[in-house]
Amino acid sequence: MTGNPYHDDRGNKDRSITNPDGMGTTRPVKGGGVAVPVEKGGPFLIGDAMTGGYGMGADILHECTIAVEKGQIAVIVGPNGAGKSTAMKAVFGMLNVRQGSVRLDGEDITALSPQARVAKGMAFVPQTSNIFTSMTVEENLEMGAFLRRDDIRPTMEQVYDLFPILRDKRSQMAGELSGGQRQQVAVGRALMTEPQVLMLDEPTAGVSPIVMDELFDRIIEVARTGISILMVEQNARQALAIADKGYVLVQGANRYTDTGEALLADPDVRKSFLGG
Ligand SMILES: Nc1ncnc2c1ncn2[C@@H]1O[C@H](COP(=O)(O)OP(=O)(O)O)[C@@H](O)[C@H]1O
Ligand SMILES: [Mg+2]
Repeated sequence: MTGNPYHDDRGNKDRSITNPDGMGTTRPVKGGGVAVPVEKGGPFLIGDAMTGGYGMGADILHECTIAVEKGQIAVIVGPNGAGKSTAMKAVFGMLNVRQGSVRLDGEDITALSPQARVAKGMAFVPQTSNIFTSMTVEENLEMGAFLRRDDIRPTMEQVYDLFPILRDKRSQMAGELSGGQRQQVAVGRALMTEPQVLMLDEPTAGVSPIVMDELFDRIIEVARTGISILMVEQNARQALAIADKGYVLVQGANRYTDTGEALLADPDVRKSFLGG
């Protein structure tokens, strides 16, 4: 992200693409949107019967539903291209949901921008480009807290307690860390907003089995503090083993939904999605 030398506008003399007034942006940004109260009683967070795709393109999601309860872990699995990342983006407001809705803690947030969802307590760690490689570990954590006006030190200490290696490496460039450590930075940065829901898209991608187990243990620890976890995982067996709820997506639609335990025991799920 920040490693790109072309990502600054020094020397740019074209006023049409700069903002002569300073502050803010020249382009009209979509408003934060409005959250609408709904009847309480549903799951803490739900993307309910979401249908939608990218831009004007064809629908990728077809009445796809994913949900997570308070302090629980929900895991989305399924083949490559099934729409797992797309479903996460839809829940986070990065994709136009043409039909269906997203509800959080008794409010319909379908119309909210991603920033407004962060303010409501949602944090999202995307599958790629989820850290600032040319910033230090600590600067990454500070970036995560940019919306906060209160003292961020206690949260930073909590993140360092959760991932002690990050405390040791806090002055090191994040880009110099191992894959597993980078993922810890990404998760830590998301936790700096003190979210109620933590959304993780393939947090264990490219890490060794030992590092994966370790990261799953930390994720369980986070859930025990009352934070809901909504997670996409390639390591389906291991992820379902720690999941309160599991979703198998195929071609943008729900194929199987059950407890993690039940999905692991289901012969059809095992045969088709868990390698027997
Ligand atoms: N930014 C995008 N623009 C257009 N199509 C996309 C984009 N990202 C993903 N897709 C398409 O959406 C479908 C689902 O992709 P994705 O959600 O990334 O699947 P998964 O995460 O399950 O591997 C694929 O057909 C993919 O080509
Ligand atoms: Mg994906």
